[in-house]
Parts: sequence; structure tokens; C-alpha cells
Amino acid sequence: MSEKRRHSGSENFYAGKIICSETPFAVSEAFKTLRANLMFSSAGEDCPVFGTTSAYSNTGKSIITANAAVSFSQLEKKVLLIDGDMRKPVQHRIFGCDNRRGLSELLSCEKSQNIGDVFANSVVSDVVPGLDLIPCGKTPPNPSELLSSENMSHLIEYAKGIYNIIFIDFPPICNVVDAGVAANLVTGYIIAIRSGETDRRAVKAAVEQMKQMNAKIVGFVLNDVNLKTNGNYEGRYAKYYRSYGSRA
Ligand SMILES: Nc1ncnc2c1ncn2[C@@H]1O[C@H](COP(=O)(O)OP(=O)(O)OP(=O)(O)O)[C@@H](O)[C@H]1O
Ligand SMILES: [Mg+2]
Repeated sequence: MSEKRRHSGSENFYAGKIICSETPFAVSEAFKTLRANLMFSSAGEDCPVFGTTSAYSNTGKSIITANAAVSFSQLEKKVLLIDGDMRKPVQHRIFGCDNRRGLSELLSCEKSQNIGDVFANSVVSDVVPGLDLIPCGKTPPNPSELLSSENMSHLIEYAKGIYNIIFIDFPPICNVVDAGVAANLVTGYIIAIRSGETDRRAVKAAVEQMKQMNAKIVGFVLNDVNLKTNGNYEGRYAKYYRSYGSRA
């Protein structure tokens, strides 16, 4: 385990929300369903790239992206997760690792630098077995320019030679364009919706925005579904997990 794994934040709202052997059945099943749907939607592709976004913030897309990535690593796939939300990065907090170097350093590297070397210095290996993370790194002033840069294409091309599947956590599309600017590199986007909070018009606006950017949407995840009212109440875990219901 790399020395970058040390977590320096104070309170971590993501603690205990990564799927593991103790995760309630309904929750792990929801992520298995999401995984199966993503596999189906990318059948035949060597290394699909999935982006996650939402209409507005706080829908759970970062934790959903993290768990989707973990669920693929459980299939013994080599998985890369990129924190593409360079405005509000949290993947380093979710996995409790250092954020001193990451995507922003990779995307602002000079042409003369060897991508393999910069990559090796920016990636955190095995945040869980089989899953590598590129955290955000230093917050840059120009995230959309960086995400649409040639360096981003080089990064994805390079990573496709190493991994079986890549996930990118993006910011909300109705707030900033970042999620759509790399649409040509993304196989498909997952739109996160928070039950009881995201309204229909917001989802429509997000879909419209993505369409205008030629971004392919592969599905929607409905997060924060109350399993108690849906007949799947799981005792003491319900409070933490009632919500990770997903439908892709
Ligand atoms: N299903 C859930 N059950 C309990 N807590 C949840 C659930 N989904 C998300 N959360 C919590 O809600 C907060 C927001 O989640 P997250 O950061 O994943 O959302 P986001 O859509 O990525 O937000 P942002 O738009 O700010 O990037 C976090 O504290 C997370 O732990
Ligand atoms: Mg987020």
C-alpha cells in the first residue's frame, strides 16, 4: 500500500460507505445490477470509460462512482477511478488517501515529459485490491480546459493500455460543462438522481445538456431510495445504506 494512502481530513462523511463483505444484501445487489448493466452496455469494448454526473450537486454521484469501481474490482478486473471533479474532489477522502498529486498534475504536464512517469507519480495503487485511483491533486483554476485538453486524451489512451475499465467522477452538468467536454473519450455516462430531491425538470435539463455535447448516456442511478418503505428494510444497516438503491 502506497504512502499516499494516509488520510489527513477531519470528519469523513464517506466512512463506511464503500461496499464490502459486510454490506447489506440489498445494497450489494444494487451495485451488482449496476455492474451487470454497465457490462451489457459496453459489451465488446476492451476498456470502456464510464463518466458519472448529475443535474445538480449532492446526488451521491461520487460515492456511487467509487462503489461502481469497487464492484468491478471484485470481478478481478483492473480498474482505474479518476477524480474528474476538480472543483469539489472527494475520491481521496472516500478512500482515505493523499491528494498532493493527481489529475491536475497529469493534465498540466509538459509534452516533453514521459506520460508513464507522470502517471506513476500521480496514481494511488490498490485503494482496494485491483482498484487504482487518480485523485484530483492540486485544485486547478481551469478544470474544463484541462479536461478537454490533448493531455486528457493521452491519459485515457495510456490508461486503456493498462486497465480493463475506467470510471471518471465528474461535477454536475447543469452547474458546469466539465462532464461533457471529454464526451469523445467516454463510452457512456451514468446520471445520478437522488430520490426525493432531484426533480424531473432538472433531470430533463441534464439530459438535454448532455445531448448537446454529444455525450452518450448509458443509464440512471436512483440513489437514496428508502428500502424500508420499499419492503427491503435491513435493520441497523438501513440508516446508512437505505439509500444505495440503484437502477441503471
Ligand atoms: N445513499 C446514501 N446514503 C447515505 N448517505 C449518502 C448516500 N448517497 C450519498 N450520501 C452522502 O451524501 C453526501 C453527498 O454524496 P456525494 O459526495 O457522493 O454526492 P455528489 O453528487 O458527488 O456531490 P457533489 O455534487 O458535491 O460532487 C455525502 O456525505 C455522502 O456520504
Ligand atoms: Mg461529487
